[in-house]
Amino acid sequence: MWSNKFSRRHFGKMAGLAALGLSTGPVRPADAQSGPTGQKPVAAFPDGFRWGTATSSYQIEGAVSEEGRGPSIWDTFAHTSGKISDKSNGDVADDHFHRYKEDVQLMKALGAKTYRFSIAWPRVFPEGSGKPNPKGLDFYNRLLDELLASDIEPFATLYHWDLPQTLQDRFGGWTSRDTAKAFADYSAYVAERLSDRVKHIFTINECSRLVHLGHGLGLDAPGLKLSQGEQNQVRHHVALGHGLAVQAIRAHAKAGTKIGLAENMVNCIPAIETPENIRAAEIATRELNAGYLTAILEGKFTENYLAHADAPKYSADDLRIISSPVDFVGLNVYTPDHYVVATDNAQGYTLAPFPASFPHMDATWLRVGPEALYWAPRHAAKIWGVKSIYITENGTSSTDQLAADGNVYDVDRIMYLRNYLQHLQRATSEGVPVAGYFLWSLIDNFEWMDGYQKRFGLYHVDFNTQRRTPKLSASFYREVIKRNAVV
Ligand code: NOJ
Repeated sequence: MWSNKFSRRHFGKMAGLAALGLSTGPVRPADAQSGPTGQKPVAAFPDGFRWGTATSSYQIEGAVSEEGRGPSIWDTFAHTSGKISDKSNGDVADDHFHRYKEDVQLMKALGAKTYRFSIAWPRVFPEGSGKPNPKGLDFYNRLLDELLASDIEPFATLYHWDLPQTLQDRFGGWTSRDTAKAFADYSAYVAERLSDRVKHIFTINECSRLVHLGHGLGLDAPGLKLSQGEQNQVRHHVALGHGLAVQAIRAHAKAGTKIGLAENMVNCIPAIETPENIRAAEIATRELNAGYLTAILEGKFTENYLAHADAPKYSADDLRIISSPVDFVGLNVYTPDHYVVATDNAQGYTLAPFPASFPHMDATWLRVGPEALYWAPRHAAKIWGVKSIYITENGTSSTDQLAADGNVYDVDRIMYLRNYLQHLQRATSEGVPVAGYFLWSLIDNFEWMDGYQKRFGLYHVDFNTQRRTPKLSASFYREVIKRNAVV
């Protein structure tokens, strides 16, 4: 399966992984310091910058009924008629549960030294709380051991949307504070058992999407269409769950465990880089993230958020919990959310409408604005004083096709990545404290409502045979990692 020309030509043949056609040879100092022309690359990243890939449990694991796993709201949702565009589900997905060793080799072949994955809560607590299922946790023990044996540092996310169905049935899921409390208990349990090997833990992935698409638009599980006021309350419970989990992890994890979250911050970009527009973009970013990052990092809601007729019900104690100090902030950055122009109005900015001709990638929501990867971390550092930032997701889907020669020439993904990474490099060169980057995704996988039709992987997956094939972008990313620079 690895014998296509790409792997041979572009990755070289070295011992160990030679059978896969991928070289994992040591990076020679000359490679790290020089570009293809022998010059020191202009676009180099700081020494020690962490390069990795990211995935999530429901999107890749499959094995939904194995070793005691309980159902999640995504199992229920995906099996509900009309919810997933290609009528698929995550029952098998990438079969990663059984093929994790092979998948760790794929990471190794890239030269990646970190990996962000998520833990399926219903594997660990099939009923959400109460009796744990040690066999479920064992899968992650096996995965961690495999990663560490391959010299890959694990970064674990505790919640990437696969809520145990029982919590939805018993409490109404995140519409209830009880779910926030159950999340903290689950977090404590996992932290206690895995923090000997996992040193970086993310609480929740993309609070904003799970609230908006899951509880507002009904496009993600659990598929609810709540009023704005009800959504605000859900948002509050999710943020509270994050804060309770931070405290629970601190209390139960090994000393030195670092804790954060991974958020798709609403990213407002100055339409033209003038001091006025930059200031306006900062005001807009703070305001449009009022329920999440602003509350979490400042310990208060903005006046505008509270002036909203449907502001959530909360106590001062809730806000103290929500803003429990984190060690780092993860940012999922795909696209510019808004371009901003400074305006002499009450809010101080105008969000420019996107022209119909604005370019996008394979998914229409995925507008191409590489500077998003400069502004997101810069805003987090400037607005909230964040001292350690990880880009926890960045990447694109592409209409990848296996060419007649068996290769996937995803030059559009390479174009996207190269341009975004140049802007990330601008950020690090200016001292914005970005410590690492996780490319979404290692392998094509179950892309939620789009099923298997949107492919984000560096490795193409044939979902009939589970065969993984490196795309040309895998060669690109390997070069980036090897040189610690944009190539
Ligand atoms: C963000 C989500 O965290 C991830 O699950 C999803 O696949 C990517 N965006 C791409 O849509």
